Amino acid sequence: MASPFADPAFYADRYPTYARLRAASPVLQVLSDGVTSATVVTGYDEARQAFTAPLSKDTSAYFADRPSGRSLHPAVARTMLATDPPEHTRLRRLVTKAFTPARVDGLRPYIRSLAEQLVGPWGPGTEVDLVEELAGPLPVTVICQLLGVPPVDRASVSSWSTDLFATGDHERIDAASHALAGYMAELISSTRVRPNRSLLSDLIAVHDEDSGRLSEDELLSLAVLLLVAGHETTTAAIGTAVLALLQHPAELEHLRASPHCIPGAVDELLRYDSPVSIATWRWAPTEVDLCGTAVPTGSPVFLCPGAANRDPRQFPDPDQLNLGRANATNHLAFGHGIHRCLGAPLARAEIEIVLQVLFEHFPKLRLAVAPGELAWRHSRLVRGLTSLPVRL
Ligand code: HEM
Repeated sequence: MASPFADPAFYADRYPTYARLRAASPVLQVLSDGVTSATVVTGYDEARQAFTAPLSKDTSAYFADRPSGRSLHPAVARTMLATDPPEHTRLRRLVTKAFTPARVDGLRPYIRSLAEQLVGPWGPGTEVDLVEELAGPLPVTVICQLLGVPPVDRASVSSWSTDLFATGDHERIDAASHALAGYMAELISSTRVRPNRSLLSDLIAVHDEDSGRLSEDELLSLAVLLLVAGHETTTAAIGTAVLALLQHPAELEHLRASPHCIPGAVDELLRYDSPVSIATWRWAPTEVDLCGTAVPTGSPVFLCPGAANRDPRQFPDPDQLNLGRANATNHLAFGHGIHRCLGAPLARAEIEIVLQVLFEHFPKLRLAVAPGELAWRHSRLVRGLTSLPVRL
């Protein structure tokens, strides 16, 4: 089968394609770039198993004899997300020591005040682009605050981070990777000299009895990973969560009347439209069995949380948003296994707080365009809106 992701229509609505692929086989061989054979995983059980199977995330090993001609900065090319154990185990243990639930809880008042500040100028009855004015700026500002990026530098950091997702524009992506890594390296040096209360400062100090501290390269790639992993994903999540609620007025009314249900609703919103629709690069260093289907040695694997989360065998009536769904927390939107999202508590906090602030301030919020006119990002990884015009 030819690449299912080549058709531009796929990006506007992925779910019919995912259903078609799953019906053909939940683990399916396709042509990824017209030449290479790849494996697409769209079934829930199969995806869950793939997240813990002996697939490798080590891109440098896969591409060692396949020169790409790219010049991505190594700190961007080789993050913790592209390592296997034991290297991954050590990095993850160290970063988990510094990025604690208490740190996320401590950020909640900041997130709330930032959301209030961003919607502050919005007048009732006017039209705004919710992605440009709220879902975009909020997550990147929160991560900058977390890492201790000074306010004056945040616009540059945000634009480099956005450029890293400029699908297809290799020159722009590579240039942004160098600009961002260069900036972060300087920030690490200055934070080393003047420690502060940021996560970056704690990552510099964190150490382990067995394996010591994070090296300079490791610190740099972690700082870049946190910024990049937590920016576009959360922007996409906020945009699609608001859109889903605006398109389901009964569910929206329920949440408005019972705001204490918002934290519980976040799981179903993430299941319904998963921001990381196709997970990051994996490949099979040896043949791997997924629920009875073999992934051949050397095959790249496109593991699709967006498809798994709409598998009717796991979620009955999967194309329906149902905030009362009993097993919504089983979703794979944050992945599963050793690479499960490290920022999930922070992402949840941001989505919850944004929804609370929007409902409190704008009881008449509605879509300002027909759903068919909405523009979606052309990214295999991230499912998100490029803009979301709403009337307040
Ligand atoms: C709604 C927003 C988010 C979603 C849907 C999301 C989703 C994911 C997924 C699916 C993975 C696993 C990828 C794979 O196995 O291929 C992942 C990993 C990761 N995420 Fe998130 N993420 C979100 C927000 C964040 C935030 C806010 C941060 C940090 C500030 C973050 C940091 C990370 C890191 C560091 C990893 C790599 C973990 C590892 O390799 O062990 N994410 N995320």
